[in-house]
Amino acid sequence: MSSQRFTGKVAFVSGGARGLGASHSKRFVAEGGRVVIGDILDEQGEALVRVLGSAARFVHLDVTDESSWRDARSAAEAAFGPVSILVNNAGIQKLGSTLDSTLEDFDAVVKVNLNGTFLGTKTIAPSLIEAGGGSIINVSSIAGMLGLPNTVGYVAAKWAVRGLTKASALELGPHHIRVNSIHPGRIVTDLTAGLSSPIRPNQLIKEPGRPEDVTNLVAFLASDESRFSTGCEFIVDGGRYVGENEPVL
Ligand SMILES: NC(=O)c1ccc[n+]([C@@H]2O[C@H](COP(=O)([O-])OP(=O)(O)OC[C@H]3O[C@@H](n4cnc5c(N)ncnc54)[C@H](O)[C@@H]3O)[C@@H](O)[C@H]2O)c1
Repeated sequence: MSSQRFTGKVAFVSGGARGLGASHSKRFVAEGGRVVIGDILDEQGEALVRVLGSAARFVHLDVTDESSWRDARSAAEAAFGPVSILVNNAGIQKLGSTLDSTLEDFDAVVKVNLNGTFLGTKTIAPSLIEAGGGSIINVSSIAGMLGLPNTVGYVAAKWAVRGLTKASALELGPHHIRVNSIHPGRIVTDLTAGLSSPIRPNQLIKEPGRPEDVTNLVAFLASDESRFSTGCEFIVDGGRYVGENEPVL
């Protein structure tokens, strides 16, 4: 990777200890930036930071807890100064339909995916304002673009993340902060390890999605290359959202 789009920039990635968040964190450092990784997985987060070196820090963060976010912001600023890129990436999924999901499971999914994104934006956006502006990337899903059965809390939360993104874009725009949502299709990570084939039937590109595919989009949205885009949905799903791939007759 020859370009250095993040020189002088500080990024914060929630849920960055593994999976997609780890991939994004590595890219920020590879392109000259510094990154603060917040996660509940302390061991994995610390191990990643050892690999990334002095341009990375790990901070214990539970995205559902406002005081944990406040501590994370203080730790990030103490390490590297104001943050100008926030990736609200932490997410969980629980399988279950409307009829058989418990309220506890529904709530747990909403709390991490939606409340976590709200709290992350509320707590870290003032740091972006202090930095003079920046970019927030909210990780939704293809499940925030269409309905999927058997994962009701996840679909509800990911659609709500899309709405939250638009409200935040309008409110933070005057502070030179862009806010966009991304919508990956199925990507091979721990989250999807137990699910069926990595290639969905509707997918036009018949290859498994890789973390780098999503990271390429995150890097674009985090960088000044996307300066004219805010409040938008960006899909990276191998062509799954195009439509029903069946003949009319
Ligand atoms: N993998 C996919 O196919 C896919 C598709 C669409 C969207 N996404 C979204 O991408 C994001 C990352 O997913 P992934 O595939 O890397 O999953 P993953 O399970 O590998 O990583 C998720 C990370 O979030 C962290 N996390 C969970 N709860 C947390 C909490 N309360 N506080 C802080 N951190 C917490 C986990 O510890 C983990 O490190 C999620 O928001 C997910 O919904 C993934």
